[in-house]
Amino acid sequence: MYDKELPAISNVSNLLALVYHALPHLNWVGLYLYDTDSQDCLLGPFQGKAACTRIPLGKGVVGTCAKEQKLLIVDDVHQFPGHIACDSDSASELVAPIYKNQQLFAILDIDSTIPSRFKEPEQEFFQFLAHLLSDILTADLGPFF
Ligand code: SME
Repeated sequence: MYDKELPAISNVSNLLALVYHALPHLNWVGLYLYDTDSQDCLLGPFQGKAACTRIPLGKGVVGTCAKEQKLLIVDDVHQFPGHIACDSDSASELVAPIYKNQQLFAILDIDSTIPSRFKEPEQEFFQFLAHLLSDILTADLGPFF
């Protein structure tokens, strides 16, 4: 699953694909990479339909997660002020910060076609996934690409 000979993006991409195909009712699973210069979240590796490429800090669900740096669950994206609809099929969303060496590196973004998709106890799994991605990135000594 985790090959230290590979760039981090290879391991991360496969992990995202595994989650996307293993769990029901997901239509988007990916990362937005946090760019410290522009403070924008830039589209990273993902599974799902083509998506918005640049999300400013504090905007949308992803930008709010980057600003607040905590796991957020949106049961109904249509009720979230400023939600950015990349795929009109999305009904609920989970986002979580990913760190590399304790610095914000990316936002894990998971969309579902059904409202209130992200319930206990699976929330703990997604928090674990965020920690796993942070560990993979922190353990990787080379560039992401
Ligand atoms: N819905 C997100 C945008 C990214 S897509 O879901 C892939 C948002 O509001 O930030």
